[in-house]
Amino acid sequence: MRFTDRLPTPPAEALAHSEQLAQRIRAAITTNDGSIPFREFMRMALYEPGLGYYVAGLRKIGKEGDFITAPEISPLFSQCLANQCAQVLAELGGGDMLELGAGSGVMAADMLLRLETLGCLPAHYWILDLSPELRDRQRQTLQATAPHLLARVEWLDTLPAEPIRGVIIGNEVLDAMPVELFTLVNGARVIRQVEMQGAGFGLTAVAGGTYTSEYNPALPGWMRSMADTLETGVMILIDYGYEQKDYYHPDRSQGTLICHYQHRVHDNPLLWPGLQDITASVDFTAVAEAGVDAGLELAGYATQAAFLASSGLEELFLAALEANPANQYPLAQQVRTLSLPSEMGERFKVIALSKGFTPGLVGFRLADQRHRL
Ligand SMILES: C[S@@+](CC[C@H](N)C(=O)[O-])C[C@H]1O[C@@H](n2cnc3c(N)ncnc32)[C@H](O)[C@@H]1O
Repeated sequence: MRFTDRLPTPPAEALAHSEQLAQRIRAAITTNDGSIPFREFMRMALYEPGLGYYVAGLRKIGKEGDFITAPEISPLFSQCLANQCAQVLAELGGGDMLELGAGSGVMAADMLLRLETLGCLPAHYWILDLSPELRDRQRQTLQATAPHLLARVEWLDTLPAEPIRGVIIGNEVLDAMPVELFTLVNGARVIRQVEMQGAGFGLTAVAGGTYTSEYNPALPGWMRSMADTLETGVMILIDYGYEQKDYYHPDRSQGTLICHYQHRVHDNPLLWPGLQDITASVDFTAVAEAGVDAGLELAGYATQAAFLASSGLEELFLAALEANPANQYPLAQQVRTLSLPSEMGERFKVIALSKGFTPGLVGFRLADQRHRL
């Protein structure tokens, strides 16, 4: 293990749940002649109906969960994004929004409240998530914090039938997509397989491998469906990751897969299927290429820190401080967590892909690093 945190042992009930999923994975391995691609293991661990990490009823995001995301850290994050969305909606003379993988719903609520203040509410705010159990939580969050805006929010099971004019947005969605794990052997990629080992799972051995990493094989198809869904407007994706030359850098020769269990980070994705989050960093060059191949235009790329600064973080911070001076310490702490290079500021990036939309985006006004991709 690269990470030395000791993991708490899951309670018996959770282990029993994981064992049910493990049985299903074992059955898939047996049917598939003794191994399945890592990608398929990851898909089952995260999304197997009724059992996978994201689709079973465990509380994942937030303090009591396994990890915490930017919208959970501070409303300032969502307010900055809303400023960017407001520009797009205003230029289009109004429109709709679609959020992918909306988590607890807090980003939707905070963005809608900010858009309301700006007089720029979308006509519809659609939410599409692979995790149906999160819908109740999203509805509760909206009911508690923005009940008067709930009527604009609609949950979808599939992408909308009619393409939308407006903004598509997704925070930490790409990193939750199953990836193919490969090891480089004599310059060729050998796709890694998962097999049964003892009571658990292991990777089938590969001789002579020098470098292990991963890629998202579903990205081009996913991006085509996003391009089909966007009639006119902008798609904004925020996630942690690198440009390709850094992603496949020799320093990162063990790849980027990491797992979260109860706020501990480790690097064994084969442990306790269904109980822990498994993620891979995003290759933003691949995202940009898939977008352009799908007919979108690369409209901006920046670190999270630069994007937030360009989108009005300082003004929003000062306004929040004025509204509640006693909040100075937590607010300043939130800004640091979102922006400092040692925290989320540089590890997280924001990429914008557009269709039929030419104005420069405010979120990239201070720094645009498209040339790095
Ligand atoms: C790490 S969580 C992020 C949640 C939330 N955006 C936040 O920032 O707190 C990833 C979410 O993306 C969803 N997801 C993964 N792939 C997706 C896809 N192709 N379409 C829509 N949602 C997806 C997962 O079900 C999960 O709810």
